[in-house]
Amino acid sequence: MRTKIVVGNWKMNLTRAETKSLLSSFLPLISDVNNVQVGVCTGFVSLTTVADQLSGTNVGLGAQNVFWKESGAFTGFVSPAMLKDAGVTYVLVGHSETRGRFGKLEVPATTVGFFAETDETVNLKIKALLPHGFTPILCVGENLAEREAGNTDSVIQSQLDGALADLSNDDIAKLVVAYEPVWAIGTGQTCDTPEAERVCGMIRAHLRTKVADVAEGIQIQYGGSVKASNAADLFSQPNIDGGLVGGASLMAEEFAAIVKAAG
Ligand code: PGA
Repeated sequence: MRTKIVVGNWKMNLTRAETKSLLSSFLPLISDVNNVQVGVCTGFVSLTTVADQLSGTNVGLGAQNVFWKESGAFTGFVSPAMLKDAGVTYVLVGHSETRGRFGKLEVPATTVGFFAETDETVNLKIKALLPHGFTPILCVGENLAEREAGNTDSVIQSQLDGALADLSNDDIAKLVVAYEPVWAIGTGQTCDTPEAERVCGMIRAHLRTKVADVAEGIQIQYGGSVKASNAADLFSQPNIDGGLVGGASLMAEEFAAIVKAAG
């Protein structure tokens, strides 16, 4: 039986004072929930503030990105060792936004792509994170054009193959996978539950072909416009083990209701 996991992704939102105020409202609302793993991924500059506030709670601290080198001349980037030092447990890798697949940013694709993660760099990040004991949350998902072309499953399978290249079964067992259809992120347009379950089941089946002995234990989240009104339905599915929640995690009561829907 897999434990459900609900993680908030605050993206590029909230000052430190705002994170404090959000958590002061949110934490008491979920203090009696003890059968769900909960985490919040905050911006780098508020990691230590949030770490202090989470200490003594059962909510884990998450980061939204990492660089794969331990240290060195990489101006502007943050290493696994720095995240460890800040008290981080969960690290998002391969989010569609860090892959450069922003839904709404009006800049030339080449500009975004230059800074974007690829399957290869996602793989390097996972390999850099695991020795420190982090739980990487590996995000995969198709965009609208890929879905309309009937390529949803093959796109996701190839993202999984690239991200998991050369990892041992034991390493893969430590990951969380998040299925996030790009067209459902921040749009209010949730993937309907049967289709979200079908894709999460397809992800598990693909993991079974790679790591048969650990695939049943891997937590697979759904992400993309999860809200209190659809969370219970999504989380009741056999292959959906919780959610990666963006916009709704910025509202204490809404996020708490989503966590409770997983309990
Ligand atoms: P959303 O974002 O819940 O705002 O759609 C989800 C995500 O990007 O992780």
